[in-house]
Amino acid sequence: MGNCFGSRISSDSSSASPSTSGWRWRKKGAGGLSASSSRVSSSPSTTTVPPTPKRSEGEILQSANVKSFAFTELRTATRNFRPDSVLGEGGFGSVFKGWVDETTFAPARPGTGMVIAVKKLNQEGFQGHREWLAEVNYLGQLSHPNLVRLVGYCLEDEQRLLVYEFMPRGSLENHLFRRGSYFQPLSWNLRMKVALGAAKGLAFLHSDKAKVIYRDFKTSNVLLDSNYNAKLSDFGLAKDGPTGDKSHVSTRVMGTHGYAAPEYLATGHLTAKSDVYSFGVVLLEMLSGRRALDKNRPSGEHNLVEWARPYLTSKRRIFRILDARLGGQYSLAGAQKTAALALRCLSGDCRVRPGMDQVVAALEQLQDAKDAAGSGTEQGKVGGAGGFVRMRGVVGGSGRQQRPEPAARRHYPRASPLPE
Ligand SMILES: Nc1ncnc2c1ncn2[C@@H]1O[C@H](COP(=O)(O)OP(=O)(O)OP(=O)(O)O)[C@@H](O)[C@H]1O
Ligand SMILES: [Mg+2]
Repeated sequence: MGNCFGSRISSDSSSASPSTSGWRWRKKGAGGLSASSSRVSSSPSTTTVPPTPKRSEGEILQSANVKSFAFTELRTATRNFRPDSVLGEGGFGSVFKGWVDETTFAPARPGTGMVIAVKKLNQEGFQGHREWLAEVNYLGQLSHPNLVRLVGYCLEDEQRLLVYEFMPRGSLENHLFRRGSYFQPLSWNLRMKVALGAAKGLAFLHSDKAKVIYRDFKTSNVLLDSNYNAKLSDFGLAKDGPTGDKSHVSTRVMGTHGYAAPEYLATGHLTAKSDVYSFGVVLLEMLSGRRALDKNRPSGEHNLVEWARPYLTSKRRIFRILDARLGGQYSLAGAQKTAALALRCLSGDCRVRPGMDQVVAALEQLQDAKDAAGSGTEQGKVGGAGGFVRMRGVVGGSGRQQRPEPAARRHYPRASPLPE
């Protein structure tokens, strides 16, 4: 396989097949916890810090630029982890809303100070300490406008918690797939804004400043602030990219069904281009309003990528996959170009996929281009004036899932290839 990490060219093939020995479900392997010892940021003035060898837990916790909370502080901040303050639930555990003082981070009265999201490890869950540590390792070092900010952590006896900035608009998953008055369909322009923000987050991770492969890019890990700025969360599966002249890192296959690149599933060889494939899947979910995998769809439509691929190449049939709830908010040229970009990201040959920096450039161009942008209003124009699209019947309206399925069930431990 060719080199799929950034622009480095190498033909390294020495890495072994997917590693499986002694690994537990969705845990990172040894060697996956290395990172630089000072905070890395996207600012042009920041010095590039080369990855350092594996670091111990103590070193990771000590060098993380975040607060170490006592369990009682977080219990108070979340009002004893009140069930009605649950923001969501994932494989790691539940996420609670809480309040702390902006400067001291001491627990604050609800409605005062700074809002936080507290992720509490489910003691009976499979995802555990290593994933928690990976999160502290990466988010404790990396800083970028499109990565969620880790405020702190708690490690006390059996307790493992993570404290993040609160993202008021929740996850992209909820906006795309939840039905109900709170979640109105995202407009075309907002979808494009979110796609660009998430792409910038991935591009930063892949850049020489960070050299990290995210490995779990999906709609539930893209969080939105009040202005729909996208930020990536969840670094539990992230890995350092290959170093030296290596083309990939060998790992046990982990991630979420429907998002993993075919060559990664088949070989366990992980590259930045695996993330690009996952980005293509999410872009397709945004275009279509359909989940990557949905067994409630008619047979032949369960796997979004397989079903949509033929339509993506056809200028006339592209309407077949576009989300009916978008109405006529997009221009034909914009929709076609976005579909073409998704198709390139989803290429079976990872060498043909664009790098994330190229994806960012393409999305920026799309937003700037007059013929490609949406109508500019939140709801957009319906009815085809000025090159915008007139709706053609209802597309893909049947069998949509009403609620997201619990995230935990969508993970898979993989030691050998799975059909996507
Ligand atoms: N910082 C945050 N601010 C606001 N809501 C959040 C925040 N972090 C998580 N959430 C909410 O909690 C939900 C669960 O997040 P979590 O990352 O634990 O699980 P997930 O992404 O759904 O699944 P997985 O375990 O596969 O990552 C998210 O989908 C989101 O709605
Ligand atoms: Mg998540």
